[in-house]
Amino acid sequence: MKYRYLGRSGLLVSRLCLGTMTFGNSQWGCDQETASAIVRRFVEGGGNFIDTADGYSAGESERMLGHAIKDFDRDQLVLASKCWFPTDPAVTARGLSRKHIIDACDRSLKRLGVDHIDLYQFHGPDPFTPLEESLRAADDLVRSGKVRYIGCSNFYGWQIAKANTLADAKGYERLVSGQHLYNLIRRDIEREILPAAADAGAGIICWSPLAAGLLSGKYRNQSAPDARSRIGIQAAITMPRYWFEDALKLIDKVAEIADRLGHTPSQVALSWLFGDRRITAAIIGARTVAQVEENLGAGDIDLPDEARDELTAALPLVMGYPHEWTEINLKSTFGKAEFDPAHAVQMP
Ligand SMILES: NC(=O)c1ccc[n+]([C@@H]2O[C@H](COP(=O)([O-])OP(=O)(O)OC[C@H]3O[C@@H](n4cnc5c(N)ncnc54)[C@H](OP(=O)(O)O)[C@@H]3O)[C@@H](O)[C@H]2O)c1
Repeated sequence: MKYRYLGRSGLLVSRLCLGTMTFGNSQWGCDQETASAIVRRFVEGGGNFIDTADGYSAGESERMLGHAIKDFDRDQLVLASKCWFPTDPAVTARGLSRKHIIDACDRSLKRLGVDHIDLYQFHGPDPFTPLEESLRAADDLVRSGKVRYIGCSNFYGWQIAKANTLADAKGYERLVSGQHLYNLIRRDIEREILPAAADAGAGIICWSPLAAGLLSGKYRNQSAPDARSRIGIQAAITMPRYWFEDALKLIDKVAEIADRLGHTPSQVALSWLFGDRRITAAIIGARTVAQVEENLGAGDIDLPDEARDELTAALPLVMGYPHEWTEINLKSTFGKAEFDPAHAVQMP
């Protein structure tokens, strides 16, 4: 297992993070016995970073994770959780208000059975609460010892930039990470979020790195997913997001490269993410121990440059404007210097 620093922080985490969204999910998840076995295999495989959220299976994921980690030294683990989704019928029990952030954190601590959370994340943006209020509340959680670091998830690039600019101006804790959808099929974050996060010192933690299992190659040669599979059960979300002709062609390429290199398609798809140093970790979700076992293989596989480039080119991302404009004009305008200065920013 290889380890990376979480954004611009001193926290070293395994580049594979264990996702626990399957824990307690009755349709595409697992029970306590399997959840505990998954955690055990992950930790024995060198993983120290585990992600959950109060919204997963109505708190059951946190409860099951809390039970599973009782066998381990808590201080050797980096536990991440999140708040934002409604946790209660009360109109206040959602979003990023000061009241909800503080209440939600206390409840997560109770469910997890721990006295602090290492990385507490805003699960999504809240357009109705000033960012200052949310940041100040999270800052208080850090000062009170209930939380060690704060991060965000599903934020827009400008919100990450604004949050850390505000944090610097006001002396609040900065966001050290952004948790975002990123995989070989959906590379949207390359346009704005990835460069904004890197500039703001936030590491990226990728969710759905296997496109809900599609990149494992197990749906190849199927004209539609089995209705009982994860892709089938979540079809309303997963089909438009991942199941289209060019994506299916890309998966054939992933399988071809995996064969050539002697890895599995899942391992190749995960390793592709680590070729970019702005990425801190990929969150591996699993329903079985065998899946974790296989995915752990990507903890120390680095793809040869040619294989990575081939995968990147297999389903190119249309960057759009303003990237298109800078591509045309940047070189002719600034091409006079002998080399790029150290303070040059990546755009994107
Ligand atoms: N912040 C957010 O908004 C957000 C959103 C989504 C997820 N997350 C986090 O990210 C984690 C991962 O998300 P995800 O579950 O969507 O990730 P994913 O890696 O795209 O998909 C995981 C699913 O793929 C299948 N799978 C995994 N490994 C496999 C293998 N080696 N071979 C074949 N199938 C395999 C399993 O489903 P089946 O066996 O059922 O096919 C598993 O549940 C979650 O647990 C959660 O912690 C965060």
